[in-house]
Amino acid sequence: MRGGAALALDGQAPVEADAEAPFYLPYGNEVAVFEQCHARRLAVLLKGPTGCGKTRFVEYMAWRLGRPLVTIACHDDLTANDLIGRFLIRHDSTVWQDGPLTRAVREGALCYLDEVVEARQDTVVVLHPLADHRRLLPIDKTGETVAAAPGFQLVVSYNPGYQRMLKELKPSTRQRFVALEFDFPELEREAAIIVRESGIDRATAHGLALFGKRLRALDQQGLAEVPSTRLLIAAAQLVAGGIAIAIACQVAIIAPLSDDAALVGAMQDLVAASFP
Ligand SMILES: Nc1ncnc2c1ncn2[C@@H]1O[C@H](COP(=O)(O)OP(=O)(O)OP(=O)(O)O)[C@@H](O)[C@H]1O
Ligand SMILES: [Mg+2]
Repeated sequence: MRGGAALALDGQAPVEADAEAPFYLPYGNEVAVFEQCHARRLAVLLKGPTGCGKTRFVEYMAWRLGRPLVTIACHDDLTANDLIGRFLIRHDSTVWQDGPLTRAVREGALCYLDEVVEARQDTVVVLHPLADHRRLLPIDKTGETVAAAPGFQLVVSYNPGYQRMLKELKPSTRQRFVALEFDFPELEREAAIIVRESGIDRATAHGLALFGKRLRALDQQGLAEVPSTRLLIAAAQLVAGGIAIAIACQVAIIAPLSDDAALVGAMQDLVAASFP
C-alpha cells in the first residue's frame, strides 16, 4: 500500500487519503478480491446500479496497482475495429493506428469497458482470447497477434435491470469473468462519501443519505428510477455552494428522477419531512 493518511470507517480497511489517490470508500472485501484477480490475471465484471461507485472503484484500483487506466464506453455502434484499431490513409500511404483495447494490451493497462451489454456480440467476442488464459489479441487486419503485457487486466461493468440484461451476454463471455456485485452504500457510509465529495457538514450529509434511502424505498410505489449516490452528491455540492436544501433536492434529485406529478409531489413531501 502506498503512503498517505488513511480514513477508516467502522473498522473497515483504511482508505488512502493521499493527495493523488482517488477517494474510494470500500464496502467489503472488494479491494482484496480485485487485487487477487489482478495477481492471478483474472478478468473482472462489476455489477451494480448507476452511480454506485463502479467507475470510482476502478480508478482507485488502477492507482493502487500503479497501472494506467483505459476506459471505453460501450454502445451498439461500437465495432471490433473501434476497439482494435484501423488503417488510416496519410498522403499516399496507409498507417496502422492502434485502438484503445490494443493500446491497453500493449501497455499493460487496466482496460475498463463500461456498459458492456450495450456492445454487439460480434464486438464482445474479440475480448474472449484476452479474457482467458491465452491473453492474446489477434489483429486480423495486420496479421499480428499481440500478447498482453503483464499488468493488463480486463474489467467490464453493467447495470442490472437497465435496458438489457446480463443474460444477453453469451455464457461463453460471462463465464470468463469474476463478478463483483455493487450496491448503494448503507447510511453511514453514504453520508461519509457525501461529506468527502461535497464538503458539507455531517448532519446535512446524513439527512441527504436518509432522504436517498427513503426515496429508494419508493420503488415499490412506482418510482422507476431511484437516486444514486451521484445525485445525492450533486445536491450536497449545491448546498455547499449556498443553495437552500429544498431547492437542491428539487433540481438535483427530484427533477432528474421523474416527470410524474404524483411521484414528484410524494418526493417533495419527503423533502419537507426530512429537512424541517
Ligand atoms: N464507495 C465510494 N467511494 C467513494 N466515492 C463514491 C463511492 N461510491 C460512489 N461514490 C461517488 O459517487 C459518484 C458516482 O460513482 P461512479 O461514477 O463510480 O458510479 P458508477 O457505478 O460507475 O455509475 P455508472 O453505472 O452510471 O457509470 C462518484 O463520482 C463518487 O463521487
Ligand atoms: Mg461508471
